[in-house]
Amino acid sequence: MATDARMATDPIPQFPPGFLWGVSTSAHQIEGAAEREPSVWDAFTAEPGRVKDGSTAEVACDHYHRYREDVALLAGLGVDAYRFSVSWPRVNTPGGLDFYDRLVDELCAAGVRPVVTLFHWDLPITLDWLQRDTASRFAEYVSVVAGRLGDRVHKWITLNEPAEHTLLGHALGAHAPGRQLMFDALPVAHHQLLAHGLAVRALRAAGASDIGIANSHGPTWPASQKQEDVEAADFYDVLLNRLFSDPLLLGRYPEGIGELMPGDVHSDLKVIAEPVDWYGINYYAPTRVGAPQGAEIEFGGLTLPAELPFSVREIEGHPVTDFGWPVVPEALTELLTGFRARYGDRLPPVVITENGCSYEGVDDQERIAYLDGHIRALHRALEAGVDVRGYFVWSLLDNFEWAEGYARRFGLVHVDYKTLERTPKASYDWFRDLLRARG
Ligand code: NOJ
Repeated sequence: MATDARMATDPIPQFPPGFLWGVSTSAHQIEGAAEREPSVWDAFTAEPGRVKDGSTAEVACDHYHRYREDVALLAGLGVDAYRFSVSWPRVNTPGGLDFYDRLVDELCAAGVRPVVTLFHWDLPITLDWLQRDTASRFAEYVSVVAGRLGDRVHKWITLNEPAEHTLLGHALGAHAPGRQLMFDALPVAHHQLLAHGLAVRALRAAGASDIGIANSHGPTWPASQKQEDVEAADFYDVLLNRLFSDPLLLGRYPEGIGELMPGDVHSDLKVIAEPVDWYGINYYAPTRVGAPQGAEIEFGGLTLPAELPFSVREIEGHPVTDFGWPVVPEALTELLTGFRARYGDRLPPVVITENGCSYEGVDDQERIAYLDGHIRALHRALEAGVDVRGYFVWSLLDNFEWAEGYARRFGLVHVDYKTLERTPKASYDWFRDLLRARG
């Protein structure tokens, strides 16, 4: 692994002063302590066959009880900020917000800035994104959280990856709530976007500022320059990327989509496009897409149905992670410069709210190579004029990777799920040294 060794010893280029370095997690994936109102994910994991290793997140990393130890790990790492999510079903449970109060206090005492995600897929079981009213309920819940934590939390994220929650949870059924609605899942996207806009307003009404969203994005590469491949790739790009970024940043849906959305879309778009202070991007890998091939496709742990109007192809010539995702750092530069070109001055400052990879083992040199490559790619985007203000590694800890269960390990810190012992990996030391070196 000569290349990895060289990358890891070359100094990382200087980032601007005030650039925010952090790590991310989410409530359902780490907290455990499931004695709260159930979420759609509790119901989903209880159904046999839904999670590959048959596991649940009932205990997960037991972060709920071990948060002090985890905050000490954050302090040892030397990050500026920690992105975590508040569990809506826990907030609905009497005393549920007390935990976040304690966590935020602990973070502030350790000098780590809390960055709060308000929805990271664990919808209360009584709610449903197919219902428009869920958007208003979300805004009410957001007001409650902001009222309690807003004196100490100064950076907010409304939603995490509404694209995946729509596609995997409601179109394909691979995530909770396990629906297979295909294109009838589109209202789920609209209602989440509306919820985002209403939440931005609710946060501002509660005196909060510095508000963003964390959307997943990645370049879509056509399988060839043939018209049918280019068209299929464009369609995929609309569904996974522009369906979310266009309404937020341009106040309109991509052509042909608005007509498929429920309600008074025109006036909803004014709420959806409520300006944000920054735009969060979760980036993992690009996708190669071609015309449909008339057969099911196995892709990133998913089975994609044959009737989709596109097919996902292998990306050759790049290493892959244990999850099978290609490692293509330069696609992050491409993504960011592409965003800047598409949205121009409508694009607020960008924060990379997630970036990371799954590998086994604690001597995780591949993770170091992945992160090193992506941080350099991010710097190239800065040099090309994209205003990027922060970078968060997914994730602090190995955790419950949704339908994959505990099989995928994204952490800088290894978790032994039998003893719950935490062991910092080589990548933890590497990231700590990187943060120290910036002086
Ligand atoms: C995106 C999601 O936000 C997070 O929950 C997940 O664990 C990572 N990507 C890795 O798949």
